Amino acid sequence: DWTMAEFRKTKIEEIRAQVGSGRVICGLSGGVDSAVAAVLIHEAIGDQLTCVFVDHGLMRLGEAEQVVSLFRNSYNIPLVHVDVEELFLGGLAGLTDPEAKRKFIGATFIDVFETEAKKVGGADFLAQGTLYPDVIESVSFTGGPSVTIKSHHNVGGLPERMNMQLVEPLRELFKDEVRELGRELGLPEAFVGRHPFPGPGLAIRIPGEVTKERCDILRKADAIYLEEIRNAGLYDAIWQAFAVLLPVKTVGVMGDYRTYDSVCGLRAVTSTDGMTADVYPFDAHFLTSVATRIVNEVKGINRVVYDYTSKPPGTIEWE
Ligand code: XMP
Repeated sequence: DWTMAEFRKTKIEEIRAQVGSGRVICGLSGGVDSAVAAVLIHEAIGDQLTCVFVDHGLMRLGEAEQVVSLFRNSYNIPLVHVDVEELFLGGLAGLTDPEAKRKFIGATFIDVFETEAKKVGGADFLAQGTLYPDVIESVSFTGGPSVTIKSHHNVGGLPERMNMQLVEPLRELFKDEVRELGRELGLPEAFVGRHPFPGPGLAIRIPGEVTKERCDILRKADAIYLEEIRNAGLYDAIWQAFAVLLPVKTVGVMGDYRTYDSVCGLRAVTSTDGMTADVYPFDAHFLTSVATRIVNEVKGINRVVYDYTSKPPGTIEWE
């Protein structure tokens, strides 16, 4: 019988064998996967590991603080917090094509890791929380032709010039298994149970050009949506729920005034591995109250729509 306790032991030995006395740098994205990878690797090699939290300004409300405090306070794992919002938002300016945005973000992550690796005297390995579905989906799509649907930012290897090897201890696992491993490693349930969040962050939830102003608007709408979901006791029944900010303005009326503001889309799906997904069937009353709160409380949004597309044919994220 295969258990997570055994997986943990085997992986720790494998990591030690791969790394030897080398130095490892691990990128934390705010998600469960990279956090679990970091804790596992830390258990294997201790202070040969440096964790880097790349704060690209594309996180959700309060996310950066939560991750930093989990690592520094609960685990006592040293963490370098790099504030690279300007670097990311600067490079995203003018980019509207989804793959161009993804490729820029992926390449910039690598640049940041390279810079941070130099600061700790060079690293021999880069660790990532890549999962099995990330590997598959960057190559082909279930049952479909062999084309790239999306370039997952953490798949596809490292540039030739870098003398770093990848450490990806979760590469064979599905999401539910990563959560089980996280529990096995003692991560708090509230962290392990978090909805998946993609490495490119809010950039792929803002179709069209990403700006700080649009990120701020989206962060507010997303926080209201998730707060309502939690208050209704629905968070754990949903695989992933989030708001998107559309590059479309429509006319509305608030009191005696005409408004001309952006449309916010709401998405919620159930899934077991992210490869296929069904729309979460909220009742109309719930969605109406979320829409009312968002329009009343978030300046810049005057209309809310719900996404009724399953995967396939839609993907979970909008880009
Ligand atoms: P899609 O949109 O392809 O998403 O149906 C499937 C799952 O993968 C997440 N996702 C990503 N995760 N880096 C990640 O770490 C990425 O580039 C990325 N793109 C999508 C998505 O949130 C969903 O859970």
